[in-house]
This record gives sequence, C-alpha cells and structure tokens, in this order.
Amino acid sequence: MSRYNRREFIKGGAAIAATGTLLPSLAEAQGAKVKVGLMLPYTGTYAQLGVAIENGFRLALAEAGGKFGGREIEFFKVDDESDPAKAPENANKLIQRDKVDVLVGTVHSGVQMGMVKIARETGVLHIIPNAGADAATGPMCAPNIFRTSFTNWQPPYPLGNILMYRGLKTAVFITWKYGAGEESLGGFKEGYTKAGGKILKEMFLPFPNVEFQALLTEIASLKPDAVVCFFAGGGAAKFIKDYAAAGLKGKIPLFGAGFLTDGILDAVGDAAEGIETTLHYGDGIDTKRNKDFRLAYAKTFKLQPDVYAVQGYDAGLLLNVGLTAVKGDVANKAGVIKAMEGAKIDSPRGVWTMSKAHNPIQDIYLRKVVGKENKVISVAHKALADPARGCKMV
Ligand code: PHB
Repeated sequence: MSRYNRREFIKGGAAIAATGTLLPSLAEAQGAKVKVGLMLPYTGTYAQLGVAIENGFRLALAEAGGKFGGREIEFFKVDDESDPAKAPENANKLIQRDKVDVLVGTVHSGVQMGMVKIARETGVLHIIPNAGADAATGPMCAPNIFRTSFTNWQPPYPLGNILMYRGLKTAVFITWKYGAGEESLGGFKEGYTKAGGKILKEMFLPFPNVEFQALLTEIASLKPDAVVCFFAGGGAAKFIKDYAAAGLKGKIPLFGAGFLTDGILDAVGDAAEGIETTLHYGDGIDTKRNKDFRLAYAKTFKLQPDVYAVQGYDAGLLLNVGLTAVKGDVANKAGVIKAMEGAKIDSPRGVWTMSKAHNPIQDIYLRKVVGKENKVISVAHKALADPARGCKMV
C-alpha cells in the first residue's frame, strides 16, 4: 500500500470509530469546502504576476460553476514577497495554521525551493503555477508536487537554434543572479552551444536590482550579434526601456525567455516593439479556446491576460481534474494524484500533458512584440519535455 493509501485508510478507520458508520463523515467531508492556500507575491517586482495567477485560478473556478469536483473552495492567502528567507514560515502558516488541503504557489524560484521542501516533508498536495526551479520537477520531484507552468530550462532552450539559423553566432546573456536567471541561461546555453553559438559573456545583477546602465555600456563595447536575457515583471519593463534608451534597440537584437515581454507591454510602449522571445504562450494564439479565455478574463478583471494568468487558470483546471476523479473526496490523495498525472489539459496555450516528473510537455512558441501584443510567429519546439535530470519518483 502506498503512503497515501495508507494514510487515507487510517483516516477512514478513525471516522468509523468516531461515528459508528462511514456515511456521516463522508457526507460531512464532501459538504465542507476544500481549502486552497495561495502563496504568491502580492508586493514587489513580481506583484502583478501573483495577481494574474490568482485571477486565472478564480476564473477556472467560476467557469466550473464555483466548485471543483462538486466541492466549494475556501481560499487562504499569504504574500510571499518573493523572499526565499520567509518561504518555510509562510508555507507552514498555510499548512499548519490554516490546514489547507492544497498549496498553490509560487512565482519566484528561490521561494519555490523552500515550498517544495515543506511539501515533501508534509505530503500536502502542491501545485506550482509559475516558478520554474528545475529541481522541483528534477531532483526534488515527488508524487504530491505538480507544476502547470514550465521549468526554467524549457522556454529559452529552443532560442539557440533560432539565433544560429539567423546567423547570430555570438551572444551576451544578462539576467538576475538567482535560480531562474541561472537556469534560464542553462537552457539557452545548452541549445545555443549545441547549434554552434558562442556566449561572449554571462552578466548578472542581484535580484531584483534594476541598475542596468554599466552592463549596457559593456554590452555596447562587446558588440555581440545578439543579447539574450531573463527578466520578468517590473524589472523586465525597466530593462526594455533602458535597452532602448542606451541606444542598443535596432543595433543589437534583443531576445529572451518570453517573460521579458509578458504582462508589461502597456507599461513600456514602443521600446518593446519587435522584441522576439520564446515561451509556452502567446497572446495571439489563434484558437477559439484562447480567444474565449482572453475575452472572459478581460470581461471579468478589466485586464488583458498574460502567461501568468494562463498558468493560474491551468492550475485550477488541473485541480478540477483531480477532485472530479475522486468526487470531491480530497482525502483520497492517491486518487487525486493518479488523475492529475493522467491529465490532458485543454489550455489557452494549447493542449498539454503531464510528464512523469509532473511538469507540462508543451509547445514552445516564437513570439514577436507587435503593438501591444505578443504575436505568435511559429512553433519553435513542438511538445518540449524538460529532461527532468535527477528526478526519481518514489
Ligand atoms: C522564477 O523565479 O522561477 C520566475 C519568476 C518570474 C518569471 C519566470 C520565472 O516570469
């Protein structure tokens, strides 16, 4: 018997002992709300990302009639401030104090590492709606940990081939010095060097520093064929504006993992025009599914959705698959996990499936900023799976 089956069995036994019959406790369990803990950044450079994820999740719930698997949802929220040092305490607030059934979060890879550790220790069902920390579905993978977004390796990996195809043989990579930046560089480097490209310099700033000036001056003197980066949220908007202000726009083409241009186009104006990125979503995906989603999101929240909204939405869809399979009996963790492992998510990004390591196998798109939209140019890599190095699912 698996760990989860055993726990479920013990719980059921205790209920019979207390009530003399299984029926009242089951009815009671199914009548109560499922507790979902949202641990997301609501302040700082990633604040808008946290809001978009929550909005997306709530939209999926509303479209499911306000219930997942026949159960209403009660939300508990913590602002994780994108601060890794506070991650264990924040996750424990939701798990120990609020007794959430499902822990949803977060955005920042460093915070994610703390959450994954707690999720492994407690066995709480955990859905990651953004943070790409490779280890979460690599060496730290676990049956109760699922991701509806990406690994940091995934989006930039196909960029290498694209650059080489265009004859851009040398590049500078610039990013924040933390997990997401370093692993994004890792994905790009693997694809680019395999295709014959050369990285002239890897440049780092501490997260969430936005003093780009000195590094932009150095880039101008290095004269690479291309600049590639990982930045997101408020910091990405500042980088795009500073890149243009430094006179580099139009001289050295700028590329990046698509977070660079998601959720910030209204804030940066013309400075972003023409930037090309790779990502598992693009505003302009020309399907009814995406158009319906975009319309519903815009109507509900008076905002345009972005990749973060899609990932939050898909976290809701995934939980619904799990809870529906067990008719709302969230205590049947083995049943929820089995259903989520087999899920085929009909996402606005396109249909995706869950890898053995619990990370989406998904198309990566090449996008280009045209006006206020990340227009999809082509599929850069079909059904890309993260290599999930070091994942041993027990
Ligand atoms: C991360 O820290 O993993 C991260 C943050 C923001 C993004 C993407 C990845 O847009």
